[in-house]
Amino acid sequence: MKISFSAPSLPRSGPVVVGVLSGGKLLATAERLDKAADGALSRAMDASRFKGESGQSLTVMAPAGVGASRVVLMGLGEAERFDDLAAQAYGGRAYKAVAGTGDKSAVIAIDPVSGAKIKTSGVSANAAYGALLASYRFDKYRTKEKADAKPSIKTLILSSRDSADAKKAFAPLAKIADGVFFTRDLVSEPANILYPVTLAAQAKTLEKLGVKIQVLDEKQMAKLGMGALLGVAQGSAQKPRLVVMRWDGAPKAKNKAPIAFVGKGVTFDTGGISIKPAGGMEDMKWDMGGSGVVIGLMKALAGRKAKVNAVGVVGLVENMPSSTAQRPGDVVTTMSGQTVEVLNTDAEGRLVLADAMWYCQDRYKPHTMIDLATLTGAIIVSLGNENAGMFANDDEICERLTDAGKSVGEPVWRMPLGDAYDKLINSDIADMKNIGGRWGGSITAAQFLQRYVKDGVKWVHLDIAGVTWSNKDAPTVPKGGTAFGVRLLDRLVANHYEG
Ligand code: BES
Ligand code: MN
Ligand code: ZN
Repeated sequence: MKISFSAPSLPRSGPVVVGVLSGGKLLATAERLDKAADGALSRAMDASRFKGESGQSLTVMAPAGVGASRVVLMGLGEAERFDDLAAQAYGGRAYKAVAGTGDKSAVIAIDPVSGAKIKTSGVSANAAYGALLASYRFDKYRTKEKADAKPSIKTLILSSRDSADAKKAFAPLAKIADGVFFTRDLVSEPANILYPVTLAAQAKTLEKLGVKIQVLDEKQMAKLGMGALLGVAQGSAQKPRLVVMRWDGAPKAKNKAPIAFVGKGVTFDTGGISIKPAGGMEDMKWDMGGSGVVIGLMKALAGRKAKVNAVGVVGLVENMPSSTAQRPGDVVTTMSGQTVEVLNTDAEGRLVLADAMWYCQDRYKPHTMIDLATLTGAIIVSLGNENAGMFANDDEICERLTDAGKSVGEPVWRMPLGDAYDKLINSDIADMKNIGGRWGGSITAAQFLQRYVKDGVKWVHLDIAGVTWSNKDAPTVPKGGTAFGVRLLDRLVANHYEG
């Protein structure tokens, strides 16, 4: 979808979306249209339950005296609570209201909201961003959808004052959306199309943005001693890969040490010999969600030329049962030298991350390392689908992530770590086992990861199992792959690690 910004004007055809505050207070453009239509909009409001609350909308078809084919009144809620996120949601809802009208272009009129937390150009940029995020569809495998069932809108025009400023503010947001879309695409692909080799090839496309890419194959990983990652991969005909992406956007920084992002990339998780039940197993195509976020994040950072040195590492494997698969009880040696008794082959993500995280620290000496993984069903029991679980060895970065999460609408909730939990993964015959007991499953998983964090490295683990896929539409996140984590970490970097 093409997005453009123009000076305020009343459209002479097609749909126009206008804002209305709580209590039915029409913003300037709505007011002008109402006058031109001899009060038709006000009468329509009186005849309905529409009161301008956030989330409400009312469409008035072809009012006499107005050129527009329809006027969509969109509720903005209370002026005082209207901020970036509200503007994004407004844009998302506006897009949805006009997407299937049959028109090729539509206008969203952005008027000053007195008392709002952002200026008009910011509202315009954020509404455009929200509309763009809402327009995402994964439809490449739908060959028979009729044209009139598809979204018709190809161009969205945001009309406001200071439209040049709005356009400028939108430019980096469009790059973040590029990253979000890339992640959503990767997470949505089925596992017969997206497997370690093809996922690595997708990561490689970031080279054209100036990201340096390195791909390790199984021979190179064997030489490095990545017995845990390779143990997971050994049951599959699909060969594993480890991909490193480097974006050196701050070459002159005093402290050149990078911030690192590490992602779990299990392109399909059957559970292996500890096989999962059939019902719902298709969800495990998105068990590479952590890696998808890291790849999309690198795209966003490079796209908007973030002044940061960032490295992304993703461990890519497929977890299958077969005669070559690892067995419950097998002992593997990780790159760190520590040994693991694999009691459940379905607790595979931590095995992949153990080697990917170690390699990342060994090679790139990051000051901070954030891993993302669809790691445990237990985190969904704890937090549902609303918050990602956050585990960390540092309080400050937790505060930073909590703040960033609130401002982009990707909230995280801190979970505990501690020696008492750590004990639960001691093994009788190796340095550790890959499962704890029945309880606190996401915590024992995090404790396992912490055993692969080097002294002095600030570390955060985000368990995104509950937030990577959504079964319901939200204003800026259509159901399906959410790309939860891209906007969060982009914002974290922008707030604290640039320049
Ligand atoms: N990929 C799963 C976790 C998961 C579950 C992600 C549901 C998304 C939705 C992970 O590899 C797994 O199987 N975890 C096990 C761990 C257990 C065997 C200790 C789980 O959560 O049941
Ligand atoms: Mn598993
Ligand atoms: Zn898994």
